[in-house]
Parts: sequence; C-alpha cells; structure tokens
Amino acid sequence: MFDVILYQPEIPPNTGNIIRLCANTGVGLHLVKPLGFSLDDKQLLRAGLDYHEFATLNVYDNWTECAAHFNARRLFAISTRNTHRYDRVTYTKGDAFLFGPETRGLPTALLESFVEERRIRLPMLPESRSLNLSNAVAVIIYEAWRQRGFESGR
Ligand SMILES: C[S@@+](CC[C@H](N)C(=O)[O-])C[C@H]1O[C@@H](n2cnc3c(N)ncnc32)[C@H](O)[C@@H]1O
Repeated sequence: MFDVILYQPEIPPNTGNIIRLCANTGVGLHLVKPLGFSLDDKQLLRAGLDYHEFATLNVYDNWTECAAHFNARRLFAISTRNTHRYDRVTYTKGDAFLFGPETRGLPTALLESFVEERRIRLPMLPESRSLNLSNAVAVIIYEAWRQRGFESGR
C-alpha cells in the first residue's frame, strides 16, 4: 500500500520501532546508506522483531539509487521545515514517504528538490523542535492508511 524511506537513519531503536510499525501495517521499508548502525545490531533487532519476518526491506547505497527505484511513484518529503500540513493531503495507494536522520533532518538540497505540495509537516507547538523519528513515521502512516479505510487491516 505505502512505503517508508529513512534517509541515513542514525539510531537503532528508532529504525527497530519503524520495522515493527511497517511489519504491522504492511508498509515497505527502505533505508538509504550510510546507516548509523549495522542491520544485525542487537538494539535494532530487539525493537524491531527479526527483520526477516516482514515483507520488504531494501537498502540503497545512496539517494540516487533509491530515487531510481521510486521513479514514477508519488513521493512526499517529511520535514519540520515544511509548511503544508500532513492531514490536508489525500493519500493514494503507492505513495511513499521520505524521512530525515534524527540529528540533522533531510539535507536542504534534497528537500528543495521536492515541489511544495509534496513537502509536508506535522503540527507542533511553536517552541517545539521536532518529534521522535519513529513517532513521526507512525503518525503519517496511520493517517495515510486511515484515509484508505485501513485496507487489509482489521
Ligand atoms: C528528530 S527529526 C530531525 C530533526 C531535525 N533537526 C529537523 O529539524 O529536521 C527526524 C525526522 O523526523 C521527521 N519529523 C519529526 N518531527 C516532524 C514534524 N513535526 N514535521 C515533519 N517531520 C517531522 C522528519 O522527517 C525529520 O527529518
């Protein structure tokens, strides 16, 4: 139904939680290197089940390789620096969501390569800096899936 792309994720338990989220919602997970951990990191596996159990995990050497995979798909860049609210978008089957690394967010050049309406944010109180990466992924995926009537879910 949907895909999540983590750009250069740094913290193993965050990716572990997202693996678990993706396994529970039928979402494909894509990681863009360099990763801040190894895929057999104990903290990652503890948080994320055994990753062999879920349908899709792709790892790319760089963004160019990942972007080629998603060629012709509708991609959204998720950042605190965007202005469009995530809940004002109508999501469709096949949409993919790109999230930035925990300490840096998405590089400005990469973010600016997306047209304005494909750049979305989650509202926060004015003084707030950002949500935890895995929480941000969960909010987006559940909104997109909710809009699709939680298709295949129960
Ligand atoms: C911990 S945040 C990164 C913080 C970084 N200083 C920044 O401002 O982008 C990790 C990722 O979670 C997502 N994220 C967290 N809070 C968000 C928000 N309120 N709106 C949109 N994306 C958010 C973004 O993809 C972000 O790159």
